[in-house]
Amino acid sequence: MIPAADLHTAAERFGTPLYVYDAAELNAALARVRAAFGDARVYYAMKANPNLSLLRRLAAAGVGAECVSPGEIARAEKVGLSGERLIVNGPAKSAHEYAAGARLGATFIVDRAEEVELLPPASRALVRVNPALEVSTHDHLATGAAGSKFGVTLAQVPAVLEALRVAGHTALGLHVHIGSAIRDAHDFTAAFGRLAGLRAQTGPLAVLDAGGGWGLGADLPGIAREARATAAAFGAELWVEPGRYLVAQAGTLLTRVVGTKRTGRNFVLVDAGMTELLRPMLYGAAHPVTPLWDGPATERWDLAGPACESGDLLARDVTLPTPVPGQLLAVGEAGAYGAAMSSNYLTRSRPAEALYEDGQWRLVRRRETPEDVWRAEEEARQ
Ligand SMILES: Cc1ncc(COP(=O)(O)O)c(C=O)c1O
Repeated sequence: MIPAADLHTAAERFGTPLYVYDAAELNAALARVRAAFGDARVYYAMKANPNLSLLRRLAAAGVGAECVSPGEIARAEKVGLSGERLIVNGPAKSAHEYAAGARLGATFIVDRAEEVELLPPASRALVRVNPALEVSTHDHLATGAAGSKFGVTLAQVPAVLEALRVAGHTALGLHVHIGSAIRDAHDFTAAFGRLAGLRAQTGPLAVLDAGGGWGLGADLPGIAREARATAAAFGAELWVEPGRYLVAQAGTLLTRVVGTKRTGRNFVLVDAGMTELLRPMLYGAAHPVTPLWDGPATERWDLAGPACESGDLLARDVTLPTPVPGQLLAVGEAGAYGAAMSSNYLTRSRPAEALYEDGQWRLVRRRETPEDVWRAEEEARQ
């Protein structure tokens, strides 16, 4: 936990809204993953937070990367990840992604039967399986339900593995990722069980990639036990792809009170909103909010951002001491899909990001300027 005095220092020094990351918590999260999953290979799903400083730290700790866009592949290359430390995934990969993945020696996740003939020659590939399950998360975060756009059906798996072999690719094994922020470990048990049911048809496999999606409170040792047992049933090495679990708790969004408003509901207006942290609006996500000032917490407040959208609320019904302009609020569990999903809507400059380690602050992304935001438009005029 970063001491409150140091959060105040960061807000003074770098301004707000500001994302701050606690290196100790990042290390602790990786240690928890390693303790639970033993010698499984860890590929960080960088969609959760692609900041190069975080990527470099994870890469230095031996973690690989899972990428789903040309930009993410470029980030992986920039931090030196390639070959066995790189996975290229996605339901609609472009020719550029196939070429870049092949140049870097990545493993491809095949998301549909039609993709077999699009892969570069002699690719290493895993087949993404849709286990057709309802899971305990927001609908928009579920990726393994019947009818979702991801993966091949259980029935299609043997034919896709065979098609890969016939086409001269290396069919390494299977991949499953049932969604994000999943609270109930039984969902993973069910998904892995459906994959294990394919064993008689697939025969032994080299790799089982059990994906990510672990909610922060989920029973990680329990999920790991099931994943390892499933991999063992195939005689396979286990790979995992956590995003949120590795970085969510390390990150906090600092925002300052702009003012208050009482209209039947109590609003505390703050300098961050949907453009900085979209998850509450997109998924109804609840982030813990801590006031960084003292006083008796008496009333309940909604945290409202600066955007001209009614849904621009960071939190609802938070009990706070009476807010005064300039005071700081810490929005927790914001390290995953926070800065990564921030946008320039309203020509807002995306926030700065700072890393805290051994009592010191280091800027790891400077605050954007309006000039950064319109640069591509101006360059197009020249
Ligand atoms: C294929 C795949 N792997 C891993 C992840 C990471 O999920 P999470 O951040 O919930 O661990 C995602 C997220 O959507 C994903 O789509």
